Amino acid sequence: MLPSLVLVSSLIPLFQVAFGATAEQWRTRSIYQIITDRFALEPGAVVNECVVSEQTWCGGTWRAITQNLDYIQDAGFTAIWISPVSQNYHGPRSAYGDAYHGYWSADISKLNDKFGTADDLKARLSRSLLRYLMVDIVVNNVMSTSLTPALSTYMFTKPQHYHPYCPVDYSNITSEQQCWLGDTQVALPDLDTENADVISRYSTWISDLVQTYSIDGLRIDAAKHVRKQFWPAFASSAGVFCMGEVFDPVVANVADYQGSDALDSVLNYPLYYALVSAFTIPGPQNMSALIDNLNQSRAGYTDTTVLGNFLENQDVPRWHNLSVDPQSTYNAMTFTFLAEGIPIVYYGQEQYFSGNGDPYNREPLWLSNYTKTTAYQLMASLNQLRNFMIYTTDWATQQMRILAASQNGIAFQKGEVVTVLTNIGAPPQNLTNTVFLSPWPRGTVAIDIVACRQFVVASGGFLQVEYTKGGVPVVLVHPSALSGSGVCADTVGALYSGTVPSDTVAQSSALRFALAPSLIALVMVAVSGFVGG
Ligand SMILES: *[C@@H]1O[C@H](CO)[C@@H](O)[C@H](O)[C@H]1NC(C)=O
Ligand SMILES: *[C@@H]1O[C@H](CO)[C@@H](O)[C@H](O)[C@H]1NC(C)=O
Ligand SMILES: *[C@@H]1O[C@H](CO)[C@@H](O)[C@H](O)[C@H]1NC(C)=O
Ligand SMILES: *[C@@H]1O[C@H](CO)[C@@H](O)[C@H](O)[C@H]1NC(C)=O
Ligand SMILES: *[C@@H]1O[C@H](CO)[C@@H](O)[C@H](O)[C@H]1NC(C)=O
Ligand SMILES: *[C@@H]1O[C@H](CO)[C@@H](O)[C@H](O)[C@H]1NC(C)=O
Repeated sequence: MLPSLVLVSSLIPLFQVAFGATAEQWRTRSIYQIITDRFALEPGAVVNECVVSEQTWCGGTWRAITQNLDYIQDAGFTAIWISPVSQNYHGPRSAYGDAYHGYWSADISKLNDKFGTADDLKARLSRSLLRYLMVDIVVNNVMSTSLTPALSTYMFTKPQHYHPYCPVDYSNITSEQQCWLGDTQVALPDLDTENADVISRYSTWISDLVQTYSIDGLRIDAAKHVRKQFWPAFASSAGVFCMGEVFDPVVANVADYQGSDALDSVLNYPLYYALVSAFTIPGPQNMSALIDNLNQSRAGYTDTTVLGNFLENQDVPRWHNLSVDPQSTYNAMTFTFLAEGIPIVYYGQEQYFSGNGDPYNREPLWLSNYTKTTAYQLMASLNQLRNFMIYTTDWATQQMRILAASQNGIAFQKGEVVTVLTNIGAPPQNLTNTVFLSPWPRGTVAIDIVACRQFVVASGGFLQVEYTKGGVPVVLVHPSALSGSGVCADTVGALYSGTVPSDTVAQSSALRFALAPSLIALVMVAVSGFVGG
């Protein structure tokens, strides 16, 4: 049985308009990331195959996003992040195609007319419950098809506004910050962000952009390629939450860009690499990498509750390219929603898209017919629970606590929610995994909100999850904490009316009888599996 899709977000006061959202506000959000060119077509547009290897525009627009917000809202997301909106390179095709992705800045004082008009970009507010809009911005560089760019085509027109050309030496931090990304065919001329004119003009630009389009937050491309001292004043001019891209597997390097001397938040790349190590199949299935990451994160970041947690984005392979097992996706995805931080889902993750890196991971969403797949429904359940917990408790600021961990599993508690994950994958296994001390006394009934089934806590407060129907994610909550949420409404309702669904009782006692009585930890075996995809 699938959990109800009733949206908790309708309970949350989403209608009030409050521009300039802070870190405190953003930590209550979950974000759906969009490449504007690839998310949706307007009615009447010719539905094209959008061959990703051609690296050209496929026709998505801001208006088409606004027309298709229901698909995002129905999955319980409460914010969108859209690809850069500024004018891009539009000359002859480059060695890597056209600027459909929006990251090849030209004159950023203008909007990119490929995606619509200023009114189209503003209009998203009028129809949207998703009033939190995060816009991707590129500050570090512009784009040029030669090493001698025509400066008049950019917002910054003077040679002294740019660092002189040099190729990046990744063993030298100054070089990473001042030399030019890209290559000689598609060069990314690097702004001199030490230059007073550049600093001042950027400050005015970002303030205008945020106010003109009622932007609530910024995702900052290539943030680590700008000296971090640049960011506090820039972010202050923006006046909104800023999440920087620091593409690096090492917690210390990424954490360096979070804090009052840098940015509010960073994308959690180290967690991404740890999740790949722990959950991909085939893969090292190394749960220690995740435990180590959590340990380092606790010590390293100034605030883990506002980090951006993700499995995919436009720069890394789709999860399904790395891992074909659907349960590997469901378990890793569940971690990104229920651990500390802000969950981010890259469009198409819910459709099991499987392209490798750039450009194959920028598939057109319309070919999916926006089907409400099992992955989509799992996201809806996780968002529904998370939104409700945030609305009713101080869940957004609570820290997680690891209850148990092994090479095959991890159990953690955050607030009233206990999450039990495994990396064994979909095939059923005779594996008794993840016995852990629950926060509840013996006899307590907890609801697994993924499959809407019940677990009963054993003597000593222990709980055990088995995978006789495959390695499903299990998310346990005390039913009293779900009252009024709509989450697993039938199961929760039955408990409160005193009638436990009969199939659950039967399975529970039959299995208890069939298995070794010496296993005192065992109370309930996961039988009504969630094997989807
Ligand atoms: C590091 O890179 C900067 C910028 O290119 C350069 O000026 C400096 O000499 C480099 N340092 C070393 C030790 O190579
Ligand atoms: C697993 O991850 C840990 C921590 O990151 C690392 O020390 C260890 O070498 C990894 N083991 C394997 C088999 O990859
Ligand atoms: C976390 O790190 C601390 C200090 O480095 C260490 O003492 C502790 O054992 C680590 N815990 C885990 C679970 O790795
Ligand atoms: C991963 O991507 C590559 C390149 O697009 C593709 O050839 C391969 O089939 C993909 N793998 C999976 C499992 O989808
Ligand atoms: C989407 O719909 C079209 C037309 O009905 C169909 O041919 C195609 O197979 C569908 N694709 C998916 C992924 O469901
Ligand atoms: C699981 O274990 C039980 C009891 O030991 C055994 O009867 C059954 O055949 C096993 N199933 C599998 C799939 O290995």
